[in-house]
Amino acid sequence: MSSTLPRLTVIGTGYLGATHAICMAVMGYEVIGVDVDLNKIEKLNSGEVPFFEPGLPEMLAKALDSGRLRFTTSFQEAAEFGDVHFICVGTPQQKDSEAADLTYVDASVTALAQHLTRRALVVGKSTVPVGTAARLAELVRTTAPAGDEVELAWNPEFLREGFAVDDTMKPDRMVFGVTSEWAEKQLRAAFAPVLAQGVPVKVTDLQTAELVKVAANSFLATKISYINAMAEVCEATGADVTDLAEALAYDERIGGKFLRPGLGFGGGCLPKDIRAFAHRAEELGVGQAVGFLREIDGINRRRRGRTVDLVLELAGGDVKGKRIAALGAAFKPNSDDIRDAPALDVAATLHRMGAIVTVFDPAANENARRVHPELEYGVSALDAAMDADVVVLLTEWTAFREIDPGMMAQVVRSKKIIDGRHALNPVQWRAAGWEYRALGRP
Ligand code: UDX
Repeated sequence: MSSTLPRLTVIGTGYLGATHAICMAVMGYEVIGVDVDLNKIEKLNSGEVPFFEPGLPEMLAKALDSGRLRFTTSFQEAAEFGDVHFICVGTPQQKDSEAADLTYVDASVTALAQHLTRRALVVGKSTVPVGTAARLAELVRTTAPAGDEVELAWNPEFLREGFAVDDTMKPDRMVFGVTSEWAEKQLRAAFAPVLAQGVPVKVTDLQTAELVKVAANSFLATKISYINAMAEVCEATGADVTDLAEALAYDERIGGKFLRPGLGFGGGCLPKDIRAFAHRAEELGVGQAVGFLREIDGINRRRRGRTVDLVLELAGGDVKGKRIAALGAAFKPNSDDIRDAPALDVAATLHRMGAIVTVFDPAANENARRVHPELEYGVSALDAAMDADVVVLLTEWTAFREIDPGMMAQVVRSKKIIDGRHALNPVQWRAAGWEYRALGRP
């Protein structure tokens, strides 16, 4: 089978690239993963996934056992091997601007193209400002020894952390941004087992494909901030945002997904993607069209501030010297990712205000400690809650939902809890004697 399939390379072995490389090898392709970070390459080659993702370690073992997957730091090796090359490097926010930093994309495309001596397709998966693909197509053509024989396509990726394997093996849809029938054919061959499951494909031009990704993430961010804006109104009126959200969700036109109120969105995608999109739109002279994204960002940031205010309120107006238990550090459950994590932001702010903050996260303690060594870290939720004046739930791990309020009551100093993610049952907690508070709820 594998001799008829194109050989794949995946440049960049972070969340997106490692998952893509591993899943494609499991699906029957011969794959080389490339990264400039030797440490990552060695870990992957020895069967270790360098980040937390449920199900992925098992898939890596399977892929390595098949003999179809290996990882290298050599772009030359990848260029000689592959027919289709996926660019999966990061596009973080620039340090002094809201724009996306394309350093890694440009560097990896250049490093690869230099060695492309035969017909090949380079496929961008990274999230980029619209117009980048057209520029890269030119860069590839002028850099590659094979010149016009090398084409560029865009295939945005929609994978969610925590569901990365499922989202890769069976995505909701695929988008192929191409400039030739040959490129489309190559992409169809590169995703044959995925498409065979009936996954819909939308074939577009390059710029539409780039835009689909940022438009999708902007919509999701907007939905979250919409319900959180309603939470602000609820707070001023005594209404209950969870009841409101539930009532809205019954309307099929609205739907309940991404309508969970709380501390808001974080992570390596939504926050920086909406900022980069707003920035790019301004460059294109259509800033007004997506100016609302700045408001979406503002609503989202205010949730963090409001959570800190609630802690202050429960702590009696001042947190200096008070013990705060922060349950959660990752930007969402089933992840150890702390990039732009609302949870850690709240914990660090409380520490700056003089509180003694003890964090516990089932997966992200180590990552959090590296960036915030000034915080204390517990080995369990109960450990973090020891002698706490206020407990604040910041990431909705299942383990936190299952905490027995009676048991936790025995270790804290004051039975005061803030449910930053609407994850707990207020009736149960109040019945156990706790003062329970949540954003947008009376
Ligand atoms: C997101 C997109 O979902 C994915 O398609 C894209 O490829 C990358 O960005 P991810 O960053 O993994 O994926 O996280 P996601 O599950 O979308 O959650 C983002 C944030 O929104 C989290 O902080 C989460 O806690 C928050 N969120 C999500 C809410 O506050 N309320 C909701 O209803 C849903």
